[in-house]
Amino acid sequence: MPVKPVARIESSEELNMCGIVGTVGKADATPILLEGLSRLEYRGYDSAGVAVVQDGKLCVEKAKGRLDNLRGRLKERPLGGTLGIGHTRWATHGEPSDVNSHPHTDVKGEIAVVHNGIIENYAQLKRFLEREGCAFVSSTDTEVIAHLINYYDKGDIRRAIEQALHRIEGSYALGIICQREPDTLYCVRKDSPLVVGLGEEQQFIASDIPAILSHTRDVYFLNDREIAVLKADGVAVYDAYGRRRTDLQPFHVDWDVASAEKGGYPHFMLKEIMEEPRALSETLRSHVDLTSLTIQQEGMPDAEEARALERVFIVACGTAYHAGVVGKYALEQLTGLSVTVDIASEYRYRPQKLGKGDLFLVISQSGETADTLAALREAKRQGAKVAAITNVVGSSVAREADRVLYTWAGPEIAVASTKAYITQLLLLTLLGVDLALKRGEMDEKAARELLREMQALPEKAQKTVETHERMQRFAARHFDLRHVFYIGRGMDWALAMEASLKLKEISYIFSEAYAAGELKHGTIALIEPGTLVVALCTQSALLEKMRSNIKEVRARGASVLCVQRESDGKAEADIADKTWFIPDAPDLLMPMLAVIPMQLLAYYMAVSKGCDVDKPRNLAKSVTVE
Ligand code: G6P
Repeated sequence: MPVKPVARIESSEELNMCGIVGTVGKADATPILLEGLSRLEYRGYDSAGVAVVQDGKLCVEKAKGRLDNLRGRLKERPLGGTLGIGHTRWATHGEPSDVNSHPHTDVKGEIAVVHNGIIENYAQLKRFLEREGCAFVSSTDTEVIAHLINYYDKGDIRRAIEQALHRIEGSYALGIICQREPDTLYCVRKDSPLVVGLGEEQQFIASDIPAILSHTRDVYFLNDREIAVLKADGVAVYDAYGRRRTDLQPFHVDWDVASAEKGGYPHFMLKEIMEEPRALSETLRSHVDLTSLTIQQEGMPDAEEARALERVFIVACGTAYHAGVVGKYALEQLTGLSVTVDIASEYRYRPQKLGKGDLFLVISQSGETADTLAALREAKRQGAKVAAITNVVGSSVAREADRVLYTWAGPEIAVASTKAYITQLLLLTLLGVDLALKRGEMDEKAARELLREMQALPEKAQKTVETHERMQRFAARHFDLRHVFYIGRGMDWALAMEASLKLKEISYIFSEAYAAGELKHGTIALIEPGTLVVALCTQSALLEKMRSNIKEVRARGASVLCVQRESDGKAEADIADKTWFIPDAPDLLMPMLAVIPMQLLAYYMAVSKGCDVDKPRNLAKSVTVE
């Protein structure tokens, strides 16, 4: 039965990186913070911490690992007080550790900050603050915020926060407390979710509604750059110019906890597909200086190594492997290098002799997949330098690889990978551009042009995800099919593999991906009247060939869903039963847009069949055994 998607809410369409909770009022803060943090556990985290003003003194407790570790510490050293902030961290800058956990404090230990987001100019700010005499204790970007607020603090904390924010570039949701003001909780956001919970004698902040739902159902979604000042008896909100807002419109939440965790969407998978535009822009922002359109070098091979390269090996499992197959096309086209892609469980039993001219690249969302790790270790044993693309800072793959390129997809909870895949494709393309530049295969002008096109991807992805209700209607008419074929050529064939995997893993409909040119060598025998064939036609040079393939299968009775770019006009609309148009981009980038309708198709087919979309049978999110 088709499930009607619930309307999006502003705060939850953004990436969930870290979890924030805060409270001020009459009640003891610590139990509220711990309960709130446990409600955010579903988002994934690697450490947790709280700060409470106790008897006029700011006290912080934090611990790496599960929330129980923090609970244990708080049992040994209880913190009492009615003002507090708490945080679950998903590491981005710096390994998961006690010291890198939030809250972070200023030099005097009087101001504490919890943060969700990324401070892009933190390195610059850190240098400035160090010159001013600040000693940093963590390797996080967040710590600069605490020091900066202290730097500007001349007695008015709200003013100091405003001044600090003028210096900060990037995204943030912040909860801030100061020991001088044991009755006030400050918060502010920009491009990162933050909600204020309105109670009778107790007020709350949280990065997501479930954290405070047991205390209040009346919430206010902060707008970008608004500062909220919370006290026991109420909340004042100031706009970016410091003017108090008098027209606040609270939102009454009538969801249960389970749907609140999904931001109002019926499943994590749909929520994560909807987060793809943002995942793309975060990943891009973290690896490209968008002003000069140059690629940041962290994680990239150096120029000498790039020039000496002869071969690239990509090794991964599942969806990450399929990203690698698209990456092969991108890297070969951009760099002229020969690229071999292997399934990790195969590679580990047929390891290649690796030498100086080889780049060994593993891709793993979780960074914990046993076969991928084994392949990485085998490559290192042979003396190869290993690069990794992963979504989890501090994961085994991240720790053991020599170089890491992080995707910034945020925690992915649905078993079927979606937003991680799309960001893996983005990073593989960026790696290709970087290598091509260093090897002289591409000039700077062409690189900038492609980077500019990449910059436009999030908006195009947004346009594409917004077609989801149409796909829901399409799926409702086709979900009872016994099998589905996906065909494509070039990058579209690589993408067809992932499209087919998505469908089979969550809807249990048998499906196969075929290189369209190979149809006539066997598979076309399986086409019978009514067979659904999804034809991916996004590669300009191969369009004519695909048109012939579509004709071939339709002549045998297949019903064809053709996915093509808007600018290729209506020609396919005449030869396919249904044409799905997607925004235009250079061929190399098309898989990042074309995958979206494919994920939506799989999702709605599975929903229509009544499958457990987020937890498909027999599958696990992370396979840590061979
Ligand atoms: C499992 C998951 C897949 C994932 C694969 C590789 O099979 O169900 O969704 O693609 O592992 O996981 P990794 O974390 O290494 O990307």
